[in-house]
Amino acid sequence: MPKDITVYAIAGHRGTLLEIAKQHKVPIPFDCQDGDCGSCLVEVKHLSHPMAIALTEKEKELLRQLGKISKQEIMDAEVNDMPPPFRLACQYFVRDEDIFVTFEGDKTLPAKGPSLSIAASIYKGGLEINSLDAFLNFAMKLEDDAAIHYDELAASMKNLGNDSLSQLFAQLAGYSRKHFEEVKQRMETAGVALNIPASTLWPDNVTPESATILAGDATMSRLDALKAALQGERRGYEFYYAVANTSPKPEIVKAAKEFVKEEAEHVELLKQWIAREQASIRTSAPVQPAI
Ligand code: FES
Repeated sequence: MPKDITVYAIAGHRGTLLEIAKQHKVPIPFDCQDGDCGSCLVEVKHLSHPMAIALTEKEKELLRQLGKISKQEIMDAEVNDMPPPFRLACQYFVRDEDIFVTFEGDKTLPAKGPSLSIAASIYKGGLEINSLDAFLNFAMKLEDDAAIHYDELAASMKNLGNDSLSQLFAQLAGYSRKHFEEVKQRMETAGVALNIPASTLWPDNVTPESATILAGDATMSRLDALKAALQGERRGYEFYYAVANTSPKPEIVKAAKEFVKEEAEHVELLKQWIAREQASIRTSAPVQPAI
């Protein structure tokens, strides 16, 4: 957190520390939400007299494996109500006590999130994607739409007589198709049936990864086309980022985070590609992009 914040649990609330954090948009990292992965590790200091300490078996075992609790600390917690310094937020049931919680950022997501577009910041589709199978089909939808869109642009540029741009879009369609095949492979390995949805639930009703070029413009430069493609990749990145942050399902959050990483790589590659194009314009030497 950029600065400390105070939140209050409602009296009688029987949820975990993680649930309260989520309600207040405090980004304690989490994954399994069931005491198995350790991503919700937090450090807790008591500002008031601690209540009886109740550690679940899962919490004790995982904290021990992480080297965050000793046998003595377990004994002190269970026998003397002395709180251990580290807890798992998904296993910690909040009592009538004041605590100061610190946590590290989510190491499974890029340290700095994207600056979200309005569409991404109001996106609630992650709440509606109700299974991992459905999520993977959404990913297929993204790549499929992007490939079709680039194909259309390639054809349109060819008709307009701009062969260089036509080739570039055909190349971008090829990369989207490659990503499509990668997701398909993943689905086949996981035994997930192909059932591509009609929409991605994205607020502006345009598939996030589609480049924001609507029609052929023969005067567009390669650099413009690459920048539009970058925008498309950024929107794909935002889509997965938004799903990872809105889905209540741990298995979807986990998969979405993996896609966030992949999309971040695509964004980086396109940035490099653009930098090379800009350099070639300065030196007038054409370069062949490579992803
Ligand atoms: S241990 Fe996995 S989220 Fe808490």
